[in-house]
Amino acid sequence: MTESERLLTKTGQDELVYPQGDDWNEVEGVILRRRSVRNYQDKQVPENVILRLIEMGRFAPSAGNSQPWKFVVIRDRQMIDEMNDFAQKMAKIFNFLLNWRTSPIGKKLAMLDSQLMIRLQPNILAPVPFGAVDLLATGKLKLFHNAPTVIFIMSDRRGVGKPQVDVGIAGQNIVLAAHSMGLGTCWIGFIELLKYSRKWMKKLGVQYPYKMCEAIAIGYPVGEPDGLVERETQAIYWHEDGREKLLY
Ligand SMILES: Cc1cc2nc3c(=O)[nH]c(=O)nc-3n(C[C@H](O)[C@H](O)[C@H](O)COP(=O)(O)O)c2cc1C
Repeated sequence: MTESERLLTKTGQDELVYPQGDDWNEVEGVILRRRSVRNYQDKQVPENVILRLIEMGRFAPSAGNSQPWKFVVIRDRQMIDEMNDFAQKMAKIFNFLLNWRTSPIGKKLAMLDSQLMIRLQPNILAPVPFGAVDLLATGKLKLFHNAPTVIFIMSDRRGVGKPQVDVGIAGQNIVLAAHSMGLGTCWIGFIELLKYSRKWMKKLGVQYPYKMCEAIAIGYPVGEPDGLVERETQAIYWHEDGREKLLY
C-alpha cells in the first residue's frame, strides 16, 4: 500500500487532493501525519532531545538571517500548572464579560463588550474562540494539555521584516522534527492569556526587545491520532505562459 493510500484509508475520506495518486516521501509523510496532540503520557522528554529540537528551530530560515527569536523551555511541573491556573482564571473573566451565550451579565451587554473587543483585537477574538475559552474556564481543557515540556518562542522586535513569520517557521521546524521522532506537539496560542500577568511576563523574560509569540507543548502522545483533520481546498490562481487558470 502506498503512503497516500494508507492515509486515505485511515481517514476514510478523500482528503488529499494534490498530487493525486502519488506516493509521499518521508518529509511529506511527516507533514501529513502530524497532528496536534492534546493528551500526553506522564513521562518527561530527555533534555538532549529538546535541545536537538531547538537546533532544528535555530536552523530555520529567517529574513536577512536575522534569527529574531528566543527559546524559553519550561519543564517545571509546578510552573506549568500555575500558568494553567492563571489562564483558567482569565478564561473565566473572558467568559463572564464576553460570552453572550453564557454570561450572567446578559446577552446584550456581553455582545456589546465582545464586539468592542473584536474591534480592538481582531486577530485574537475573530472568529470568537468561545468554545475553547469555555473549556479552559471550566477546566475541561488544560492550557498545555498536561505536556511535560513547553517551549515558548519569543519574537525579537529588532528582526528584519516580519519576525513573527520567522518564529512560525522555526516553530514548525521543531514541530515536524518532534513528530519525526515519535513525539507529539501542540501549538499553544492561548498563552495570549498569560499576557495579562506581570508575574508571568517577568518570569518568562518577556521584555524589550522580546515579545511573547507562541508556545509549543511537547511530550509522548497517548494513543494514536485518528487520521487527518479536514482542510479546505482553496482555489489556486496559476499564471503561466501569459495565461491565468484556476485550479481547485
Ligand atoms: C499558531 C497556532 C496556535 C494554536 N493554538 C492552540 C491552542 O492554544 N490550543 C490548542 O489546543 N490547539 C491550538 N492550535 C492547534 C490547532 O487547533 C490545530 O493545528 C488545527 O485545529 C488543525 O489540527 P491539526 O494540527 O491536528 O492538523 C494552534 C495551532 C496554531 C498553528
